[in-house]
Amino acid sequence: MEIEIRTFIDRSDCYAYALTQSKALLENETDWTAGLANVSAALKLLIPDINWVGFYLMRGAELVLGPFQGKPAVSHIALGSGVCGTAAQSGQAQAVPDVHACCNHIACDLASSSEIVLPIYAQNRLFGLLDIDSPKRSQFTATDIPGLQAIADAIGRWITMTGVE
Ligand code: SME
Repeated sequence: MEIEIRTFIDRSDCYAYALTQSKALLENETDWTAGLANVSAALKLLIPDINWVGFYLMRGAELVLGPFQGKPAVSHIALGSGVCGTAAQSGQAQAVPDVHACCNHIACDLASSSEIVLPIYAQNRLFGLLDIDSPKRSQFTATDIPGLQAIADAIGRWITMTGVE
């Protein structure tokens, strides 16, 4: 499937375009694996300067690796562990401009320097997380949260609407 790759000066415009493309991919999809796999592939193409993007899904009391693009990653994360476990435990987005200065960080790809994690709520609970790593320091800060949370929110609405699990 072809995705038109556009470049943007403003990162919020890039995220808005990635949101439009993600919604288009999910529009007629009813299978969560297929939907999340395609969204991770689209985000890898559309968001510049990233080396890993994908999903961790709540499975009981832990996070389990879902569809992603990038190097193989840790497949099970306990609540409170690492940036992802912190996001899942608090239910809040986490932006880490320098993962090397962050003591509670699980290194998957040594190239990663900054990371952002957005919670995905669906069916009145935390369904999982959207996790994005960049090899550039300070690529992700709190200013990136609203634009990327909009993508996580759209995924949550799609999961709620389709009822998939
Ligand atoms: N760095 C994450 C682990 C997942 S990888 O980045 C793909 C963390 O600290 O939770």
